[in-house]
Amino acid sequence: MMKFSEVFWICLIFGCFYVISNNGVEASHKIYEDLQSKVVAAPVKQLHRSGYHFQPPMNWINGPMYYNGVYHLFYQYNPKGAVWGNIVWAHSVSKDLINWEALDPAIYPSKPFDINGCWSGSATVLPNNVPVIFYTGIDPNQYQVQNYAVPANLSDPYLREWIKPDDNPIVVADETMNKTAFRDPTTAWKVGGHWRMLVASRRKHRGMVYLYRSRDFKTWVKAKHPLHSVAKTGMFECADFFPVALSGDAGLDTSAVGPNVKHVLKVSLDLTRFEYYTIGSYIPEPRDKYLADKSFVDGWDGLRYDYGNYYASKTFFDPSKNRRVLWGWSNESDTAQDDVQKGWAGIQTIPRKLWLDPSGKQLRLWPIEEIETLRGQKVQLSNQQLKLGEHVEVKGITAAQADVDVTFTIPNLDKAEPFDPSWTNAQDLCGQKGSTVQGGVGPFGLLTLASEKIEEYTPVFFRIFKGQDKHVVLMCSDASSSSLRKNGLYTPSFGGFVDVDLADKKTISLRSLIDHSVVENFGAGGKTCITSRVYPTVAVFDNAHLFVFNNGTETITADVEAWSMAKPSKMNN
Ligand SMILES: *[C@@H]1O[C@H](CO)[C@@H](O)[C@H](O)[C@H]1NC(C)=O
Ligand SMILES: *[C@@H]1O[C@H](CO)[C@@H](O)[C@H](O)[C@H]1NC(C)=O
Ligand SMILES: *[C@@H]1O[C@H](CO)[C@@H](O)[C@H](O)[C@H]1NC(C)=O
Ligand SMILES: *[C@@H]1O[C@H](CO)[C@@H](O)[C@H](O)[C@H]1NC(C)=O
Repeated sequence: MMKFSEVFWICLIFGCFYVISNNGVEASHKIYEDLQSKVVAAPVKQLHRSGYHFQPPMNWINGPMYYNGVYHLFYQYNPKGAVWGNIVWAHSVSKDLINWEALDPAIYPSKPFDINGCWSGSATVLPNNVPVIFYTGIDPNQYQVQNYAVPANLSDPYLREWIKPDDNPIVVADETMNKTAFRDPTTAWKVGGHWRMLVASRRKHRGMVYLYRSRDFKTWVKAKHPLHSVAKTGMFECADFFPVALSGDAGLDTSAVGPNVKHVLKVSLDLTRFEYYTIGSYIPEPRDKYLADKSFVDGWDGLRYDYGNYYASKTFFDPSKNRRVLWGWSNESDTAQDDVQKGWAGIQTIPRKLWLDPSGKQLRLWPIEEIETLRGQKVQLSNQQLKLGEHVEVKGITAAQADVDVTFTIPNLDKAEPFDPSWTNAQDLCGQKGSTVQGGVGPFGLLTLASEKIEEYTPVFFRIFKGQDKHVVLMCSDASSSSLRKNGLYTPSFGGFVDVDLADKKTISLRSLIDHSVVENFGAGGKTCITSRVYPTVAVFDNAHLFVFNNGTETITADVEAWSMAKPSKMNN
């Protein structure tokens, strides 16, 4: 079996693109036949390689899991090249979610029911403390079928070897369903005498999550009704369904139900490559239904975990810290040819703790506390005034690899620009009103990964508008000036609205995790998150700088705490 080594850390891109077929527009895994087995022989180039983000060559997360003191991360991986193809379940383990050890792949094509690929799935730890993996196998007909695998040796603390019993597959699409659009089984949950799990799919352009039930965890029967379906979304994938507590930030086991629990359904949209979620009620009896609360948009314009480059996410319950943890994948935004040259592609974002905001209107996400153990040298700017057009450097840290936490105070909101109610798309608005478009209150924020003379920079900022009856806060992470190199880079200005009430407490916070080619941003304590991938040419290593800036007529103040971030001592090597 292949052993991963530093030099041969070849990875893949999981590109899903629009492919025009005879039937119209379809999203599909883009296959780079010429590139998918191209192995780079030279040591991987380190430029843009992240320092503390999990970054072996990798792709979709299959199933994160905590088991007997060890975190397992399974991810989709192409052992033979830096673009999508030859998919296996790569496997890494950690005791702290910071340091990772790479093991041999856990699951790879070897049986008729997965001979053409081992795609995403999930792990479930049964009440007798036995973990089971569900995954999608691609069979000889290219059909997507659902399989299970169990550890070969429960005494092995790392669960290196997995067995795929011969009674697989456990679930296949019936005649009413689309056999080539049926994938990514979820973590199972149990209510009453039955286990349940979901498989994502489509019926024409309707996104579907089919529900399956089992008494013994072996024989699975499709429920009469899907758990949920939504018109006109296209294919759902990587569905995730889990409970959150009505109050507090503790996580819940996936089987939790009851009056103090709400449920979250998240789906990844294959057509657009973004995800959205709703919060609602799960009614297991008598009909096993999920009803999204009326106040949530159930479709393209729904709430997102992250308004940037973020896909194929999945949560798991971590009983050791009583929290729910979210993993998401951030693909490269340069070209497939670049990925082959670099020898790697795609990173995992920093795991995020996830809970229900006290308002009940959204989720909150925050980097797991363990990441703070990597904080080194610290600098502070207190009560830093920023007038129109000013920017002030945050000096004394490694700005290319840093953790920054700023609180902005806005003494007066009178100068806020009027908000036009037709501005419903935050990303479009960020595109129109960038950091150099002066405003009333804002734009103010950080210039991350900036060159000394600010030819290259990735601004992350807020702009505040006067709405109908309250202020509207826009948050943007703009990659359009992030690199002097233009060809082939995907450099959008991502944006999201932030649901904060500025009327009494006139402050807003921003935390940014900066790591060479990634900037992960958390606005207002994790209410709005945006991840950008950027490829500076000048603002690299010690030539990267960090500034706070204001380009609004209203003077604001910034309180900054910033840390250099260390590399974990063990990152998959
Ligand atoms: C990366 O993801 C973005 C969406 O987040 C998508 O637009 C882009 O095409 C993807 N790039 C590749 C190379 O897969
Ligand atoms: C199972 O794992 C334990 C602990 O690593 C090891 O001592 C034992 O030899 C393994 N058993 C088999 C059958 O491989
Ligand atoms: C089934 O799904 C595949 C893959 O998404 C798609 O190409 C095909 O058109 C679908 N068939 C129908 C009948 O919707
Ligand atoms: C502020 O706006 C001015 C005018 O558009 C622009 O020249 C300048 O670069 C902006 N400053 C920052 C820090 O973005």
